[in-house]
Amino acid sequence: MNNHSPHNHTEPRQDETPAVEIRDVRKSYYIGKMEVPILHGIDLAIRRGEFLAIMGPSGSGKSTLANLIGCRDQPTEGEIRVLGNAVNKLSNDELAHLRGEIGFVFQTSDLVSGMSAFQNVELPAIGCQKHGYNPRKRAKELLELVGLAGRMHHKPTQLSGGQRQRVAIARALVNDPSIILADEPTASLDARTGAEIMSIFKNLNRDGRTIIMITHDPAIASHADRIMHVKDGLLVNGNMNT
Ligand SMILES: Nc1ncnc2c1ncn2[C@@H]1O[C@H](COP(=O)(O)OP(=O)(O)O)[C@@H](O)[C@H]1O
Ligand SMILES: [Mg+2]
Repeated sequence: MNNHSPHNHTEPRQDETPAVEIRDVRKSYYIGKMEVPILHGIDLAIRRGEFLAIMGPSGSGKSTLANLIGCRDQPTEGEIRVLGNAVNKLSNDELAHLRGEIGFVFQTSDLVSGMSAFQNVELPAIGCQKHGYNPRKRAKELLELVGLAGRMHHKPTQLSGGQRQRVAIARALVNDPSIILADEPTASLDARTGAEIMSIFKNLNRDGRTIIMITHDPAIASHADRIMHVKDGLLVNGNMNT
């Protein structure tokens, strides 16, 4: 995408550009003709390799923001750049490619019920043309990574909530994304299972991946390097020590 232009001295190097840059982003939904503003001007830069938690009460617009960062929706106003790419300027092919750089984990794991854990993880990688890349091998490695080596051929209904969420994490990783975007990944889990999911995220972050995690649970958010709060449609600083 940006690979064709040689870097000059005034531009930051590609790997120094933030993972995500959000500039004065506003988002409204429309109920018929009535505009319902949700986000009122969000500014945020997330550096590469950062582990950021975004908190806020139910209905405050956290998932709305996650869908914007994940390139699944467009802001009403403002600009979003992901890995240096202005999202609203991309062609459909470029957008699809960029979405592949983001591993999305949802609140309730939306696994395909008729497929095994292994098939669910492999699914987004089928047809991937990356040279030397073997989706079957990678799916197996990832299920081992999340501690499900012994459950590869179980169907979602044969797994616990925590195990299903691990499958969803493995699936989000199968295309080797540099950004993991998780929308309340532990909301349906007990505290202990939630802590286990956090240790997986911490390991992924140690490997250099950027983690953006939405949560309303302070204990879960405390695992992050930085905490921001969505409040009245704006993003305000959260201090880890207050
Ligand atoms: N597609 C939509 N159309 C209309 N309103 C929506 C839509 N999605 C979310 N909303 C509304 O936007 C507000 C924020 O929703 P959401 O981003 O899901 O909040 P959160 O994830 O913080 O609970 C809520 O009032 C919700 O009802
Ligand atoms: Mg939500």
